Amino acid sequence: MFSRIAGVGSYLPGLPISNADLVQRGVETNDDWIVTRTGIKARHLADANCTSSDLAHEASCRALKSAGVDASELDLIIVATSTPDFIFPSTACLLQSKLGNHGAMAFDVQAVCAGFVYALSIADKFIRSGSHKKVLVVGAEVFSRILDWDDRSTCVLFGDGSGAVVLEASESPGILATAAHADGSHHGILSVPGSVCGGKVTGDPFLRMDGQSVFKLAVRVLADVAKECCDFVGVSPAQIDWLIPHQANIRIIESTAKKLGLGMDKVIVTVDRHGNTSAASIPLALDVAVRDGRIERGQKVLLEGVGGGFTWGAVLLEF
Ligand code: ACO
Repeated sequence: MFSRIAGVGSYLPGLPISNADLVQRGVETNDDWIVTRTGIKARHLADANCTSSDLAHEASCRALKSAGVDASELDLIIVATSTPDFIFPSTACLLQSKLGNHGAMAFDVQAVCAGFVYALSIADKFIRSGSHKKVLVVGAEVFSRILDWDDRSTCVLFGDGSGAVVLEASESPGILATAAHADGSHHGILSVPGSVCGGKVTGDPFLRMDGQSVFKLAVRVLADVAKECCDFVGVSPAQIDWLIPHQANIRIIESTAKKLGLGMDKVIVTVDRHGNTSAASIPLALDVAVRDGRIERGQKVLLEGVGGGFTWGAVLLEF
């Protein structure tokens, strides 16, 4: 038994916000600095009243439609997010309510930018065990809520959005291999080190990052985990049709592709248009490439993510 992607969908809130728009909003930056260092030209930012479950709902409806599956048929809903609507209930339960599904198991995964590959790996295990047959896997984020708009070294990097896939039990592949890891000793290089206590935020409620340490670690683990997945299946990276890396920074993406010996013509890049949407970035990029016709049924696609924790993982699949 395999799990196979039956449908894909994504959603971006509002109009694109360019680098020049950020300058107009008072961020002390410029287009040249952002584009040279990160490749980001625009991102989408959700209105104050729009939540992760709202974004998740839009992407999920599109994924369900493309799969030809009704929400009532889902038996598991997993949402990867680091910007949940509430402390509890989970964003997955709120999404379930918006979709009108009753009774499916529903929970969130918190692995920051690696959240979607973690969630997809978990969904794959549920389907392969035979316990579940139709699973909705979503990455949804409103990262703009946790950005310090006075910290130009981080606020220019991120955006809001969502992406979703419907996974179904299938006799043909499907997901071929998954790998996921974490090393909590690096928790200090990328975090939102705040919490709620006694009705107040304690600590720091904004995203903090040591950019250079994140850069070095990300390039190393992304190349390693991609090779781990390929070795498991017995294919070389050169046999992959498409690489969809987490869309954080074009220089991280290019360095990883180079380490794997892949030309950039095999890499899906959306970071220029979306910024870093954390757990949403991989399904967003997948949906863009499926809809524009680059990714076709039967092709081998390698998804890989890396994020705060530090967490990282990859999924190799036949689309
Ligand atoms: N606009 C203009 N100047 C800026 C900005 C900005 N937005 N931000 C920082 N600067 C300035 C700094 O003040 C500094 O000026 P100084 O030399 O006068 O002191 C200068 O630019 C260089 O700053 P650095 O922090 O050293 O810049 P660096 O070359 O390391 O680039 C960056 C920073 C882009 C964050 C880089 O470290 C990086 O790409 N790191 C990867 C991190 C990443 O992509 N994280 C995404 C989240 S993590 C994830 O998804 C896994």
